[in-house]
Amino acid sequence: MIHEPARPGILVVDDDRNTRDGLKRALQRDYRVLTAEGGERALEILDGNAVDILLADVRMPGMDGLTLLQRALVRQPRLICILLTAYGNVETAVEAMKRGAYDFLMKPVNLDHLDLLLKRALRSSAMESENLSLRRELDEKFGLENIVGQSAPMQALFDTIRQAAPTQATVLIQGASGTGKELVAHAIHRLSTRSRGPFVAVHCSALAPTLLESELFGHEKGSFTGAAGRRRGRFEMADGGTLFLDEVSEIDAAVQVKLLRVLEERTFERVGGNEPVDVDIRLIAATNRDLKTLVQEGSFREDLFFRLDVVTITLPPLAERADDIPLLCDHFLREACRKNAKTIDGLTPDALHLLTAYSWPGNVRELRNTIEKMVVLARGPRLTARDVPRNIVEEVRGPGAVSRGTLLPAAAPASLAGAEKQLIFDALKRHGNNRTRAAQELGISRRTLHRKLKQYREHDAAS
Ligand SMILES: Nc1ncnc2c1ncn2[C@@H]1O[C@H](COP(=O)(O)OP(=O)(O)OP(=O)(O)O)[C@@H](O)[C@H]1O
Ligand SMILES: [Mg+2]
Repeated sequence: MIHEPARPGILVVDDDRNTRDGLKRALQRDYRVLTAEGGERALEILDGNAVDILLADVRMPGMDGLTLLQRALVRQPRLICILLTAYGNVETAVEAMKRGAYDFLMKPVNLDHLDLLLKRALRSSAMESENLSLRRELDEKFGLENIVGQSAPMQALFDTIRQAAPTQATVLIQGASGTGKELVAHAIHRLSTRSRGPFVAVHCSALAPTLLESELFGHEKGSFTGAAGRRRGRFEMADGGTLFLDEVSEIDAAVQVKLLRVLEERTFERVGGNEPVDVDIRLIAATNRDLKTLVQEGSFREDLFFRLDVVTITLPPLAERADDIPLLCDHFLREACRKNAKTIDGLTPDALHLLTAYSWPGNVRELRNTIEKMVVLARGPRLTARDVPRNIVEEVRGPGAVSRGTLLPAAAPASLAGAEKQLIFDALKRHGNNRTRAAQELGISRRTLHRKLKQYREHDAAS
């Protein structure tokens, strides 16, 4: 017996019986065809049946096709909707596309054209749902939109991002340097309805106040020395998309006033101009300072703070989400291996232990750089405790402890210099005088080791 794959379901909605029957006859070989003579009935059918495609006439008595389209998409956001319009009615067709129709067809319907359109629509929808489920799977495994993390604070953060992203609300992202603020800003943009629009970032501390103003708002020709022509500012460039103001605490008082006005009125003038410019942007701001404190100190306007502080996202320091460190290590390890064309299988448990116990003052950025450095310098197939930078080992295990098993020499030396010397000779002995390996274990460069040995030789010769 031949197993027939489930045929896609099409709902044909038209008040004209001949059109309904004609389409049904033409489509029923490849599709399960349902029909309705109006919008109300069509919605009932949608509620009780599996329908992949809605094919509806625009002009119908009672509920028209555009309204049906809108209501149908509320029930089934992934429904493929194709509207049939009278010849020449372009405005309706455009309106249909704006409201989420997949495409439209002119009446009378060309059946070959319809056939192609349906096949294309089904293909792209299958691809989309495959992408969607793949992406969801990846998100669940690693985090959200390239933000790696599974710890409780990160899960809560993902929930906030998912909630805030589709809205138009201004978002303020706070957190210490290297915690991932820019990454979060990107994620919000990508998950928003503006994801097809531009994402424009401005690093506010990088520019002097006058330059920042013209960078943000643009300028007219000749508005200041060096302003050769009219220039669009970042606000205009971000029209229809997201504007990301990084290090927003560094904006000086005059620009703060202008920024406040744009946020209130969504309009501004270019520097040296008086023609108002309207923009449609979503603002995301980030800072590694505590804005509230800056408001109390009087260096940041309170009214601007309230405008920015609609949705606040605070990124915890990495040390407060140590659960995520193994996952992040794995992520950065792969990244560094790809980038440096290396193959490293992973980290040994004691290396991972050191990295998990360290305080990470530079947060995720420091972890990323550390892993990259370890990958570049690694000799073996895995990263071991010996590959972990000295400052990390010392913080975790106390000063002098360079690597496990090589703590302090047995006989207590009389001085710090003596202890160092003994450590060095012990390490050399363990490695059969291999200086490279001894230096590696000690966490110093080969050159430093050479210098030290030379010093000892000179000192011994002199005494
Ligand atoms: N959760 C995370 N998952 C994966 N990569 C991350 C994560 N958090 C940060 N990173 C990476 O760490 C680096 C620093 O992140 P980012 O630039 O977003 O930090 P920031 O908070 O904006 O820092 P700064 O205040 O210094 O500008 C980037 O390379 C980023 O990709
Ligand atoms: Mg940043």
